[in-house]
Amino acid sequence: MSGIQFQLNGRWRTENNVAPTTTLLDYLRLNARLTGTKEGCAEGDCGACTVVIGLPQDDGRIAYRAVNSCLVLVPQVDGLPVITVEGLAQPDGTLHSVQQSLVDADATQCGFCTPGFAMAMFALAQGGEARDDGTIHEALAGNLCRCTGYRPIVEACRTMRADPPGCGLAERVGEAASEYRQGAQLYLAPRSVDELVEAKAKHPDAFVLGGGTDLGIRVSKEREAFPVVISTQWVRELRSISEDSGKLAIGGGVTYTRALPFLDRHFPSFAAMVRRIGSRQIRNIGTLAANIANASPIGDTIPCLMALDASIILRSKRGARSVKADEFIISYRKTAMEKDEIIAAIEIPLLKDGTSFTTYKLSKRFDQDISTVIGAYRLRVDGGKVAELRAAYGGMAATTARATHVEAALVGKPWTAESLRDIDALIAQDFQPMTDHRGTDAYRLKAAANLIRRLRIETTGGQQTGVWQL
Ligand code: FES
Ligand code: FES
Repeated sequence: MSGIQFQLNGRWRTENNVAPTTTLLDYLRLNARLTGTKEGCAEGDCGACTVVIGLPQDDGRIAYRAVNSCLVLVPQVDGLPVITVEGLAQPDGTLHSVQQSLVDADATQCGFCTPGFAMAMFALAQGGEARDDGTIHEALAGNLCRCTGYRPIVEACRTMRADPPGCGLAERVGEAASEYRQGAQLYLAPRSVDELVEAKAKHPDAFVLGGGTDLGIRVSKEREAFPVVISTQWVRELRSISEDSGKLAIGGGVTYTRALPFLDRHFPSFAAMVRRIGSRQIRNIGTLAANIANASPIGDTIPCLMALDASIILRSKRGARSVKADEFIISYRKTAMEKDEIIAAIEIPLLKDGTSFTTYKLSKRFDQDISTVIGAYRLRVDGGKVAELRAAYGGMAATTARATHVEAALVGKPWTAESLRDIDALIAQDFQPMTDHRGTDAYRLKAAANLIRRLRIETTGGQQTGVWQL
């Protein structure tokens, strides 16, 4: 099969002449001339470009998810149904219930944001979730409106129905091409881990595409044209999640959205923090593995994985190896991965009785903001004394790192305020943070120490503020 085939608003189309690093947003507006989908920020922050794609589930169903089309590359929708705002109304112009609810609630003024809201709302309705305030707010957190305000939009979410779109819902997904070449660019979509590591061995400098929320920005903003992209999207083994042998194993291609119910069950504080990574649109395609492969010094998930003593399972043609999460990041934006390796899975030991896991994210804005400081702690207190503490931080150094002086000083000590008397000095021994527009070095040191104080208060019967209160 040649070319990329996908269903756009009910009609299958084939493309042979689109560069593989064309964003879906550019394609919709420039090639398909569907200009209802808007470009605001082009970096996944505003939601104006939201469209809905149908993703095949293991049980054969198609789940309709909102995504930012500015971060999705056209080959990522190969084989999939795509619905834009133009597909919502009936062919005779009768508005879809989502659109009519927005009209009835006076939920639009300039209208620039409205198509994106309509699509995020359509995905919410299709998902069949309860329409409580928390769920509605979470579903809309990735969409910005500058003039109407959110109250009427939330109201429209309460009244909309889950009707099918005017263009209809797809009954099947198509077969995606495993290779797409256009000009000097090559896009590979292997089907198995063996094929994936073979491709990586052949193209060691290729960009491995998890969800694309990073690569999409480099394409959208920097106009980078990667010569070779290898997608993990269709590698079945990488989509698995298992809870065997005392550990949670999350495949390298698992999105945040799919991982969340499992994190909720075993590490609720981790799950609450993941809900603050990007928006639903981002979490629907972004993967946990790609977040750590990115090796950001303020990456939100790696401090959690370090504190939880997780292992990263790497695969290459040479075989498999396991690297501890706290040895995975070796320097600024550099990981322990060799060029021919990919992340096959992340294995997190489940908590033993009496052990807790807590993470705190401090950022200027609650939703979809980059952390200023993130602290993550696995703690076991026995007989009033600290029996085990693993404390890891992001935003405190060139890499995410454990607070080894803090850990060593507290283990064996009573878990009391008195034992934390020198916590500021201990944190300063562990980290020499920088000052940037998110926070000064002094703020970061004080905040990192205070998070341990907060952990003690919360784990000794004080007020449970969890990750939700800044
Ligand atoms: Fe702003 Fe895509 S244009 S999220
Ligand atoms: Fe103008 Fe939302 S109606 S930005």
